[in-house]
Amino acid sequence: MLVLGIESSCDETAISLVKDGHEVLSSAISSQIQKHAEYGGVIPELAAREHLTNINEVLKLSLTEAGKSLSDLDGIAVTNHPGLLPALLVGTSYANGLSASLDIPVVGVNHLVAHIYGSFIERQDLLDSKTSITALLVSGGHTQIIILSPDGTCEIVGGTIDDAAGEAFDKAAKILGLPYPGGPIIDRMAKDGDPKKIDFPRPLKGKKEHRFNFSFSGLKTSLLYKVKDKELTKQEMNDMLASYQEAIVDVLTHKTFDAAKKYGSRNIVVCGGVACNSALRQRLKDLAEKNNVEVVLTPPKYCTDNAAMIAALGYHQLKSNPEPASIEAIPRAPKLTQVPFFNK
Ligand code: KG4
Ligand code: ZN
Repeated sequence: MLVLGIESSCDETAISLVKDGHEVLSSAISSQIQKHAEYGGVIPELAAREHLTNINEVLKLSLTEAGKSLSDLDGIAVTNHPGLLPALLVGTSYANGLSASLDIPVVGVNHLVAHIYGSFIERQDLLDSKTSITALLVSGGHTQIIILSPDGTCEIVGGTIDDAAGEAFDKAAKILGLPYPGGPIIDRMAKDGDPKKIDFPRPLKGKKEHRFNFSFSGLKTSLLYKVKDKELTKQEMNDMLASYQEAIVDVLTHKTFDAAKKYGSRNIVVCGGVACNSALRQRLKDLAEKNNVEVVLTPPKYCTDNAAMIAALGYHQLKSNPEPASIEAIPRAPKLTQVPFFNK
């Protein structure tokens, strides 16, 4: 089954063609990051305008890359929640229009479940897992630990009580006058810094009643005080960033492995934009060996926003519910209790 995936929930217009939920034929992305950079964050109306301007071109690129035409499609999947409403509306209207004109079904996809499924695109063997899988979802807006059971049920056992991990990177960059988004540049600069040089708090680490929860806003405030009225040298800046990043990586990995242990997971998947972070990936690898747990390091192209994960997940939804319907944009996601992709 050939599925066209459309992603427009935030600041990337992305369209992808995926066969049978795992064979990625194309993944075209038009990023608006530069357009939003001067505002230090994403402006919803600006995002919607950019999606509208670019979506036709991205579709053409995706079809060309895959060597397919619209008549080859069997179905359409579009992110319809959660996300910025004006941005979501562009994708859902476009998908509904294509579905009606091609007379093929369309399904609405949960962006967060799609991020999780991004870890499974190249690991289809895990769809037959007999034990639970612990997922760490770390993106610009979300930080959650989710336990996925082989019967398709899932439970969010922890999440952030304030900022998301991606926000912790983005806000640190803003404080230090670095460009948006902060994650990639902090990742690069931290490579030349000493992660043990500066002491940052480890929020909610060791707190029983918040065993799998996170808090990152205090960390950002701590950074603010440490750099206030100071001119940092390049080395001091790198040390500051490496130490700040270390605090995030330490808490994320500690709690994820703790959850895997408690829920008996043999596998951990890590997804969302922050899962590209090289220090996080290295720490996960090291801890995997020590704890005898397999960590799936999702390819970076499936960590940040992309439409391959939308089309790939959409395949599973289309398989179980091929009825034609019109998709509505819903800015807030309902509570996650099930994922539709495990082989039962
Ligand atoms: O998943 P994503 O592309 O979009 C959302 O759904 O939010 O995640 C974007 C977030 C941003 O906060 C960005 O700073 C962060 O992912 N990010 C990183 C890295 N690359 C992207 N954070 C840390 N290290 C990176 N290498
Ligand atoms: Zn995302």
